[in-house]
Amino acid sequence: MVFVKRVAIIGAGVSGLVSVKSCLEEEFQPICFEKSSQIGGVWIYSENGTRGEASAMYNGLVTNSSKEMMCFSDFAFPAEHPPYLSTHHVIKYYRDYAEHYDIMKYVKFNTEVVDVSPTENNKTTGQWNVTVRQRNQEQLVEQTDVFDAVMVCTGKHSKCRIPEYPRMDKFKGQIIHSNTFRRGEDFVGQNVLVVGASHSAGDLATQCSQHTNSTYISLRNGCYVLPRRGPNGIPIDTVANRRFSCKIPGFIRSKMLTSLVESRMDLDNLSLRSDKKNFFSSSMMVNDLLPDRILNGTLKVKAHIERFTKNGVKFVDGTYIEDIDTIVFATGYYTSFPFISREIFDETKMELFKHILSPKYTTLAFIGAVGAVGSQGPVYELQARWTVSVFSGTLKLPDVNARQIHAKKRVDKMIKLYGYLKIKFAPVPYQEELANDIGVKPTLDMFLTDPKLAVKVFFGPAYPPSYRLKGPHTWAGARDAIMKGWENTTSPTRTRQITNQHDVTAHLIFIAMFLFSLILAIFFRN
Ligand SMILES: Cc1cc2nc3c(=O)[nH]c(=O)nc-3n(C[C@H](O)[C@H](O)[C@H](O)COP(=O)(O)OP(=O)(O)OC[C@H]3O[C@@H](n4cnc5c(N)ncnc54)[C@H](O)[C@@H]3O)c2cc1C
Ligand SMILES: *[C@@H]1O[C@H](CO)[C@@H](O)[C@H](O)[C@H]1NC(C)=O
Repeated sequence: MVFVKRVAIIGAGVSGLVSVKSCLEEEFQPICFEKSSQIGGVWIYSENGTRGEASAMYNGLVTNSSKEMMCFSDFAFPAEHPPYLSTHHVIKYYRDYAEHYDIMKYVKFNTEVVDVSPTENNKTTGQWNVTVRQRNQEQLVEQTDVFDAVMVCTGKHSKCRIPEYPRMDKFKGQIIHSNTFRRGEDFVGQNVLVVGASHSAGDLATQCSQHTNSTYISLRNGCYVLPRRGPNGIPIDTVANRRFSCKIPGFIRSKMLTSLVESRMDLDNLSLRSDKKNFFSSSMMVNDLLPDRILNGTLKVKAHIERFTKNGVKFVDGTYIEDIDTIVFATGYYTSFPFISREIFDETKMELFKHILSPKYTTLAFIGAVGAVGSQGPVYELQARWTVSVFSGTLKLPDVNARQIHAKKRVDKMIKLYGYLKIKFAPVPYQEELANDIGVKPTLDMFLTDPKLAVKVFFGPAYPPSYRLKGPHTWAGARDAIMKGWENTTSPTRTRQITNQHDVTAHLIFIAMFLFSLILAIFFRN
C-alpha cells in the first residue's frame, strides 16, 4: 500500500500553483521547485528571457479565452479586469491566487529539477529520488531528496520546434522562432514571412503587418480564424464551452463553428480555407484582426514552404518570394521532460492514463501536458484535483494493464484526428469526466434543489466554479460566482449609461434577413 505524504511539484506556473493548492487540500506536504525566480511560467514576460533564455510571451498579447472562463474554480477574477486580459492582468491574478491560498511558502525558487528516478523500493513504496540544482551565489549545489509522489508541471513550451526544409542552410536572411519575437516594431521596413497557423502565428503576423514593408503568413493546410466575439458579441468560448452544447454530436458542432467563421469572412477570398473538412482536426486560431489585414493588403497568405532559396523561399504551389529579411517560425514547441529518462516515461508517445498519470507508476503525474480548445488553467486545476485523489487513495484505479490500454487508446484517437501526435481537445467533456471521477461534477438533481442555478450551470457557460458546488473541497463563493459570471465579464466595458432599451424585434428581423442573405450568399456568390 502506497502512502503519500511528501509531494514534489516541478514548476510554479499555472499547473504548479494548482498542484500545490490541491496537495494542501489533501493535507499532503508539497514542495514546489521552480527554476526561475517567479511564479507564473509562460505568463512572465521578459524582454530577453529569463537568464538569457527567451520566453513564449510577446508584447501586446491579449488572451484568446475570456476572463470568466479562465478563472480557477474557487477564485474569481476581479470585476474591474476587462473581458479579455493582457499579460499583466493574468499574472496579477495568479499572484493574488498564490497569496490568497498561501502557496508561495511552498515554492523553492531558483531551483531546477535535474533528475527524477524511482527509488530502489519504488515498487512497494511508490517513492522517487528528486535531484535539484540550486544557484547560490554563482555556485551550483546539487541535492537529492526522497518524495512519495511527483507532479510534473513544467509546461509545454520548453523546446522550440522549427521544421527542416531543403536548402534551409543556404538562406542568407534571419530565421527566428516565435519564442524570441517581442514586437512588430522590431521589423520596420522588412519583408517578413511568418510560418504557422496557430494563435501566436496569427498574432505575430498581424503585429508585423503594421510595421513591415510586407508581411506574409505561410499555412500548411489553411486555417479557421475564430473571432473573440461570437454570435451577438458574446465571447466565443462562453458559447462553445457549455455543458448543453457539448452534448451536440461532434460533426454538427464542427459545422456550426465552420458556419460561424464563414459568416464573418470569405475563407476562399482570404486564401484561408482549410484542406480539412472537420473543424476540430484543422488548424485554428483566435484572431480578430487577421481578416482585415488581408483585406487591406498588409498581409498576404501563402502556401506551405517547399524549399529555401538564397534570399527567400519557394512554396509548394510553385510561387516564390525572393527578398525575405526575416522568417519567424511560430511552429510551436515540443513537450520535453529532460529530467526523466525515456525508460520511465516516453515523452514522444505521451501515453498517460486520463492524460495525467504514468500508467506504470501511479505516483508520477503530469499536470498541464494537454491542450484545451479554450482556457487551459481550469483544465489543469481539475487534473491536479484528480491526481491528489489518486494519491490519497480515494480514487481507485483500474489495474496496470487496463491503464496502459486506456492511455494508448486516447493517444491513438488524437493521432487519428490530427494525423500526428497532438493532444488537444474540447475542455468540457474532459473536465466532466475528471470531475465525475472525483465526485464534483454537477448533476441533474440540481434542477430540483436549485433550479435557477441549474439553468445557468447546464445551459450557460461552463464556468469553473461549477466544480466547487458539491463533493470534496467545495467553495462557499461558487454559486455567487456562477450567478454573477456574466455581470463580472461585462461590467468593465459598461462605462456609459444606456437609456434606450435593448430591442428584441431588431433581432428577429435580423435573423430573418440573415437567413435570407445567407441563402443568397451560399448559392449566388456574386
Ligand atoms: C503566447 C501564449 C499565449 C497563451 N494564451 C493563453 C490564453 O489566452 N488562455 C489560456 O488559457 N492559455 C493560454 N496560453 C497557454 C498557457 O501556456 C497555459 O494557460 C498555462 O499558463 C500553462 O501553465 P503551466 O504551468 O502548465 O506551464 P508554464 O507556464 O510553462 O510553467 C512551467 C514552469 O515550470 C518551470 N520549470 C520548467 N522546467 C523546470 C525544472 N526542470 N525545474 C524547475 N522548474 C522548471 C518553468 O520555469 C515554469 O515556471 C498561452 C500560452 C502562450 C505561450
Ligand atoms: C489560445 O492560445 C493558446 C496558446 O497559444 C493555445 O494553446 C490555445 O489552444 C488557444 N485557444 C484557442 C481557442 O485557440
